[in-house]
Amino acid sequence: MTANFDSARFRQVLGHLPTGVVIVTGLDAEAQPVGVTIGSFVSVSLDPPYVGFFIGKSRSWPDISSGTLFCANVLSDAQTELCWRFAKDPVDGAANRFEGLEWQQSSNGMPILSGILASIDCTVESVTPAGDHRFVLAQVTSLHTAEATHDAMVFYKGKVGGVALNAI
Ligand SMILES: Cc1cc2nc3c(=O)[nH]c(=O)nc-3n(C[C@H](O)[C@H](O)[C@H](O)COP(=O)(O)O)c2cc1C
Repeated sequence: MTANFDSARFRQVLGHLPTGVVIVTGLDAEAQPVGVTIGSFVSVSLDPPYVGFFIGKSRSWPDISSGTLFCANVLSDAQTELCWRFAKDPVDGAANRFEGLEWQQSSNGMPILSGILASIDCTVESVTPAGDHRFVLAQVTSLHTAEATHDAMVFYKGKVGGVALNAI
């Protein structure tokens, strides 16, 4: 840690910047679904079509990235339970975070969770060290949207809620 740097203050101030929330999903070496909640997902480039996100000391990422394919599931504001489920260890004796969940296969065979607003199929292009995280740059291979019945989820000041867009 950089001397005299107040990391709690860093978290608190950066928490003022709202982000969307996705669950990055993939399949492990046994073809079992794995996933992790990510707030740093971002559009990077149009041509070629790149997206990216930052991953920290993740236990799931080595499993997801071993196959180089993943799917970014864009959460709605009705999916708070999913957001926290994929940010914590499996609860109540569940073997994994997918226990009891409905999911389908995306175009590239990765897990798509029920009720999401959109899904973005990706192939990992590069993984670059970025401090205590790594930046995952990925090529978009296919895109899907669902019939939206909810607003997008937003993560803000450590809490999740909905994006209520008022005219300004
Ligand atoms: C709203 C939200 C956004 C998050 N965004 C990120 C992120 O961008 N990068 C990251 O590495 N972890 C992020 N996390 C934390 C991970 O979801 C959490 O550390 C998780 O337990 C990692 O699981 P894993 O070890 O199975 O990968 C976020 C958590 C929440 C609740």
